[in-house]
Amino acid sequence: MKDKIQIMKKEALEKLEACNSLKELQDIKVLFLGKKGKTHEIANEIKSLDSSQKKEAGMLLNEFKNYFNELFEKTQKRLEKEELDKKLKEETIDITLPGTKVNVGTTHPLTMIIDEIEELFVSMGYDVVEGPEIESDLYNFEKLNIPKDHPARDMQDSFYITNEMLLRTQTSPVQARVMDANLEKGPIRIICPGKVYRKDDDDMTHSHQFTQIEGLVIDEKISIAHLKGTLEVFAKKIFGENREIRFRPSFFPFTEPSLEVDVSCFKCGGSGCPICKYTGWIEILGAGMVHPNVLRACGYDPEKYSGFAFGMGPERIAMLKYCINDIRHFYTNHIHFLNNFDRIERDDMNESK
Ligand code: DAH
Repeated sequence: MKDKIQIMKKEALEKLEACNSLKELQDIKVLFLGKKGKTHEIANEIKSLDSSQKKEAGMLLNEFKNYFNELFEKTQKRLEKEELDKKLKEETIDITLPGTKVNVGTTHPLTMIIDEIEELFVSMGYDVVEGPEIESDLYNFEKLNIPKDHPARDMQDSFYITNEMLLRTQTSPVQARVMDANLEKGPIRIICPGKVYRKDDDDMTHSHQFTQIEGLVIDEKISIAHLKGTLEVFAKKIFGENREIRFRPSFFPFTEPSLEVDVSCFKCGGSGCPICKYTGWIEILGAGMVHPNVLRACGYDPEKYSGFAFGMGPERIAMLKYCINDIRHFYTNHIHFLNNFDRIERDDMNESK
């Protein structure tokens, strides 16, 4: 019996030393200590021994069990450590690998220009007002002194939805809406940015949908000098400190007089270059003194109140400022085009620090 236990001890040691998984370790335990295991078998054999041998054999078997348990624990610790080491190795992060590039969006160039213009006018005390893109004939035309048979309607070929409703062709109707809605008929100082629509064929300088910013100031004794001063501040802010503006006579049904406003070329300073087509001047917006008919149609007394208005196209201003040669770039969302403005935005942010 002694030899048998000795052999079992040797076998257990070999098996536990060679064991290399926790699952296998459990199997070894069952093999030796399990209900039908080797120690159980030996215990049965011991039962049939005579009492003098029984005691010694019993002690040896207990000794084996202690020996096995001790070894089992050691092996278990070894295997647990090995498994942990393996897992840590597998899950190690290689911090020298290049990272995944995260693409961060940027402000759209048109939004950049509109924000910049809004900020300027807000700093001068203007409110920003928006109006509906689906507009009535009344506000888009009639109240702005453009009656049904007026030739100016041809200039603004429109998307009509019904006989009376259309996609607005300009942001000027917001002027009429704000004047109408002002029950006190007191002073107004607003700019109105928004989308407008015209039945134009899309090309480098035309788009069936584009944006406009309308400006309107109404008060007592407003003169063309106020308009000039305001637009000068605007031109210097957007195109640079040394800019000058000039007025040319024009025609819009809702203003009298009407003016076309040019800014001195920001590229050549006025000496002539391809951007200003060698004239030294660049046309940037339309403006004028609010027509008495418009004031009257919106409930204002033209004897008491006067005002100026202007309308500009942010696309044109952005195209000039950022040398963009095709209006369609603003709407096609090409990432290479848009990425250029990431840099401009960052430069602007650094400058303002
Ligand atoms: N609404 C005009 C257009 O779409 C632009 C404009 C010109 C607006 C003169 C004005 C203005 O308020 O005074 O062409």
